[in-house]
Amino acid sequence: MKLALFLSVLPGLATGVYGDSEEWERELVDAWTTIGDCSPETGICEGCGFGAAVVDLNGPDGAETRFYNAGPGEREAPWGPQDTWEIASITKPFTAVATLILEAEGVVTLDSAIGDFLPCNWTEANSQVASVTLLEIIQHQSGFPAQPPDRGPSVGGNPFAGYTEDRLCASLLKLNGLPTRGRYSYSNYAYGTLGYVLTLAVDSENPPDYEDIIKEKILVPLEMFDTSVTYDEPGWDNAAVGCSRGLARGQETIRLGAYETLQGNGALRSTLEDVSKYLLAALYVDAGMPTPIDESVFGGLPPASDEITKLYDALAIAHSLENAATAACTCVSNWCEGLLCPLPNPNNEFITSGGFEGYSSGGVGTWRKSGDTGGYSSRVAYSAAKGRAAVAVDTCGGCGSKGTAGSGAQRAALLLVDGPPVLEPVESMEDEPAEEFYILFTGDAHSHNFPSVAQVNVEVTSTEDPNVVTVALSSSDGTGATSRAVRAAGVDGAWIVEEPIFMGTGWGASSDPFNQLDIPRTLIISNNWDTATYQDMGADVHLAYVCDGRRCNDRILGNNEDEEGFPSLGPPEKSEDEMFPSGRVGKKRVGGP
Ligand SMILES: *[C@@H]1O[C@H](CO)[C@@H](O)[C@H](O)[C@H]1NC(C)=O
Repeated sequence: MKLALFLSVLPGLATGVYGDSEEWERELVDAWTTIGDCSPETGICEGCGFGAAVVDLNGPDGAETRFYNAGPGEREAPWGPQDTWEIASITKPFTAVATLILEAEGVVTLDSAIGDFLPCNWTEANSQVASVTLLEIIQHQSGFPAQPPDRGPSVGGNPFAGYTEDRLCASLLKLNGLPTRGRYSYSNYAYGTLGYVLTLAVDSENPPDYEDIIKEKILVPLEMFDTSVTYDEPGWDNAAVGCSRGLARGQETIRLGAYETLQGNGALRSTLEDVSKYLLAALYVDAGMPTPIDESVFGGLPPASDEITKLYDALAIAHSLENAATAACTCVSNWCEGLLCPLPNPNNEFITSGGFEGYSSGGVGTWRKSGDTGGYSSRVAYSAAKGRAAVAVDTCGGCGSKGTAGSGAQRAALLLVDGPPVLEPVESMEDEPAEEFYILFTGDAHSHNFPSVAQVNVEVTSTEDPNVVTVALSSSDGTGATSRAVRAAGVDGAWIVEEPIFMGTGWGASSDPFNQLDIPRTLIISNNWDTATYQDMGADVHLAYVCDGRRCNDRILGNNEDEEGFPSLGPPEKSEDEMFPSGRVGKKRVGGP
């Protein structure tokens, strides 16, 4: 578990250095409008639009929320901060946090088994499904398939419509096994089941609706009155319509059909204004709930109440490593559903008992969760250490999707929570002679080009100026380039990378308007060169030391002869018998085909 870096906080980041970032945020929103695959010329429907909110604790009068809405190309924004959109899988943390609150109330425990609540005939079950616990579901370790196996046709745009308790029980009993149980494998089916289990746990005879629980425990205390699964007619008037893509491009898509059991996985709609209320509270909890509440920092928090106290306590657990699973991955677009993500997670990401994904950017711990449905693609991200939170969404079905990095809106959320670059270069110290060195780091990154992991090599070479190095980044997904990097003032081991070399200059880079922006790009090298983080596009790639100086030649050429002062780092030499003990397998062929 490598969480040391995650938990470290760069000095000065929480003290207002972000300052006036509105202009920078506007440039980022403008960049979104130029994403090619949602330009009006593609025939995308009129509802296609982008929206974002940034909660900035360092506003002139304390917490300030800035809202942005735009349409693609030259189009006007089709909707605003008070219109609802499908938050989709961002519903999941609400389900998980409600579980934590119900645990505090003694209604369930994280170790409760679903079989204790669901009235299925478990003697007919083909697997140990009844023993799956609430925590296993929260952390996507239940072994459930990604989607309900026998989902029927969409009704009113809702693929989960008509999924009654009978059908839920029938499908659970039919599961032949839980082959991924105990290992991270993202499941909508499991989270939907969890939401339904909560309703039965509250009252098995007359279960409330899923949304009643979420409203009582979370939405009403936070005064998120426009967030719901169902709406009355005036409520639906404020629904931002999503746009279909692919073969249905030009058409609208929106879930109007009623849900049955599987709401906890993604049924909620919300607004930028409501999500911002949630983000402010989350920042307050992430900051350690300082009391008394300083209105000049956290102005706008909801009024104190028993419900709010319970919610904050649950969020504090949800932001902690208590019960957290470190073998976890992020989930964007279609990338994670039904696919096994590579573990251990190359970005040292983890998932908590509140369903939040922890990751780092610039060495600073940050929380995130994304959501995708047919017509909507969104993400929230926040970090008290950064003093910022962001939500971004498109109602275009995920424009500008890039490999495992997600849609343009999802990548925008990560950039918006980072904010503009804050590190300053050191003053030049020309008198000091430069020490010559060369270090090679390697690591795995979520590819921005493909739905896969890419191996990234980062070479750092000294220059004549001790405050300047050359950073060469190469990646197995075909990106990479070389840049100057300048030593950052005030943060040991931090270098400001001047060019966007993570995405290089090739096709992946040139199709991404965010890659051209002035965003934080840093290389932070640990004191003993053991590890490093490479920050670009709103997240860190975690790197490990491979070699330095002449030792690299030994590694690369397989030369195991010790040179004076340079211990061999290659594998110990083995005889052929040791390498092929059976004497049959893998014998070298000499000559012939
Ligand atoms: C549960 O399943 C068993 C085995 O099929 C059956 O014998 C029993 O009658 C069922 N119980 C109920 C309440 O349906």
